[in-house]
Amino acid sequence: MAPPRRLGRTTTWFLFFSLAALLAATDAATASPKSDTLHRASRQRELPVFHEAPAFRNGRECPRIREETNAAPSDDPALIHITMTLDATYLRGSVAGILSVLRHASCPENLFFHLLASHRADDLRRTLVATFPYLSFRLYKFDPRSVRDKISLSVRRALDQPLNYARIYLADLLPPSVPRVVYLDSDLVVVDDIAKLWAIDLDNQVLAAPEYCHANFTKYFTDAFWADPELTKTFKDRSNKACYFNTGVMVIDLSKWREGGYTQRLESWMEVQKGKRIYELGSLPPFLLVFAGKVRAVEHRWNQHGLGGDNLKGLCRDLHPGPVSLLHWSGKGKPWLRLDSGRPCPLDSLWAPYDLVRVWPFLAD
Ligand SMILES: *[C@@H]1O[C@H](CO)[C@@H](O)[C@H](O)[C@H]1NC(C)=O
Repeated sequence: MAPPRRLGRTTTWFLFFSLAALLAATDAATASPKSDTLHRASRQRELPVFHEAPAFRNGRECPRIREETNAAPSDDPALIHITMTLDATYLRGSVAGILSVLRHASCPENLFFHLLASHRADDLRRTLVATFPYLSFRLYKFDPRSVRDKISLSVRRALDQPLNYARIYLADLLPPSVPRVVYLDSDLVVVDDIAKLWAIDLDNQVLAAPEYCHANFTKYFTDAFWADPELTKTFKDRSNKACYFNTGVMVIDLSKWREGGYTQRLESWMEVQKGKRIYELGSLPPFLLVFAGKVRAVEHRWNQHGLGGDNLKGLCRDLHPGPVSLLHWSGKGKPWLRLDSGRPCPLDSLWAPYDLVRVWPFLAD
């Protein structure tokens, strides 16, 4: 049974807004030949070449997998499902991320990767197979057209890439036999056994992530949002205080997500944003609007985020206090670019051991 919609009486109002936004979006889409040129250029760009990763084998205590999993991702309870995006720009980060997960997993053969790509899926698949010949994975095509019209420009161009929004559509893209998934961004490394994060008790919630209740929640939305009681009442029905969380690391119950229509809930906030600027960032604020205060809190060690610096300058940042299971270079600076430039941040040296790159063609840009 589907839980009651959180948007309640405002639904009609949203539909009205959606229609207006849709009409406006059609206009915008036909008037941007520039972004098409950019896409063609990135399609032609050569992909980096990587060293082959070693085979990672299960320990004796690992639960046995029932069947050949590469054929079809199954509901085998021994499998740990992980999902990430793949694209030319972040490929070096994705490869480092996958290697880090494998290297620290107690049962690496039980990992199954669901990888989402919107362009050059065949090239990316070849690269993946050459780099990780033993990896169990399936590559999914994410159609950027499904979201392009819904995206509003944010403070940073990289945040506006359609693939950045693919995490909203996991429940539609992944097969229904996958009950739960760990979503990971492409600018992070895991330095602990991912099975610990995977096995977390979701406590009846749809989504688990580290929460940051000391962060100033107000600043993630505009004054126009806070001034509108129709909009702000979305935070009134929360079981807990609405806190910031980072969407780069999430454990998601896909069955509950589907039942609750969470993709549509997120989309309806993106439609609101089209009509009235209620936030400045990309795919994060809709998640906060729908889930903040309803998130199953995870230990902070599982997302030591912000290592890329802020969104505008990308200054060096330090770790948050406490233990570390996952390092996340969210923000503008990426460790592979800073390392290549010869001016890395101190913590970028923690990313370097996972860098498998052999040929990096992007320096010629
Ligand atoms: C939080 O941010 C808002 C908007 O930037 C600001 O007006 C407010 O003073 C901040 N609150 C705290 C406690 O820092």
